[in-house]
Amino acid sequence: MSSDPKKSDDRMAAHRVAVVTGGGRGIGAAIVRRLAADGYAIAIGDYLADEASAMAAALTAEGKTAIGVGCDVRRLPDIADLFAKAKAGLGVPTVLVNNAGIYPNHPALAMTEENWDQVLDTNLKGSFFCAQALARSVTEAGLTGCIVNVASTSAFSARVGACHYSASKAAVVMMTKSLAQEFGPLGIRVNCVAPGLVEAKEGLVTEDYRRQFISMVPSGRIGRVDDIANVAAFLASPAADYVNGETIVVDGGFLTGRSLQRSS
Ligand SMILES: NC(=O)c1ccc[n+]([C@@H]2O[C@H](COP(=O)([O-])OP(=O)(O)OC[C@H]3O[C@@H](n4cnc5c(N)ncnc54)[C@H](O)[C@@H]3O)[C@@H](O)[C@H]2O)c1
Repeated sequence: MSSDPKKSDDRMAAHRVAVVTGGGRGIGAAIVRRLAADGYAIAIGDYLADEASAMAAALTAEGKTAIGVGCDVRRLPDIADLFAKAKAGLGVPTVLVNNAGIYPNHPALAMTEENWDQVLDTNLKGSFFCAQALARSVTEAGLTGCIVNVASTSAFSARVGACHYSASKAAVVMMTKSLAQEFGPLGIRVNCVAPGLVEAKEGLVTEDYRRQFISMVPSGRIGRVDDIANVAAFLASPAADYVNGETIVVDGGFLTGRSLQRSS
């Protein structure tokens, strides 16, 4: 491992291979597109194998380099397979975006163990073991790299029906700091992007919820997938070389506080 930052940048530039989990659709697909535009070859890992393959085929048709791999991040053998296929098909991955995540609604009183485990295993355990796989392959190859985790404003502001989700994303924020401490000396930065509400798919929220929500966002709109992809790409780039262990909230100002006026 070189401690010369210029040499590190050169070596990372020579190995522009990224793994994006959950990259078959939604925010992940936007991150895939953005990193591909930045010149990365991408391994798209998604448990919807067909969507991952379709995304990779669409990029390949545009002259980009991508492979789609069926991968359930809750399963460690799937993660090993994703990284092995990325390395064999594209070269050693040096960038990981831990985007795969689920956000079902389950009221706390009715929560089952299965509900809890599904969310924590996907959002937290899967992100940790993908990060470990990236760090192992980068260090084995003597390279430097970086990891971008995807948390949520739910890490900082609770949502009814999302106790498991909020807990998982708060843990992702802290995991980001812990991994930055352990991986920093290995030449691997670890950062996080925390989106506010993003209309990643149709029917995500009702029209009424949408209207009420917008009234709480100083920027006056709901997030777009590219809002998140832009910040993820920045965190993955050499422009963020001295940013480590940080979480950037991308929410149009939603978390700034109450937008209620006490008196006229
Ligand atoms: N959409 C939002 O409002 C919002 C807000 C804050 C944070 N986020 C976070 O952003 C990320 C992407 O969300 P989205 O809205 O694009 O979701 P989405 O459901 O549109 O896409 C998620 C992708 O992850 C994949 N995936 C789910 N479980 C997986 C698993 N076990 N293994 C591999 N792939 C899996 C899905 O197949 C899908 O392609 C998630 O981590 C989510 O928690 C979303």
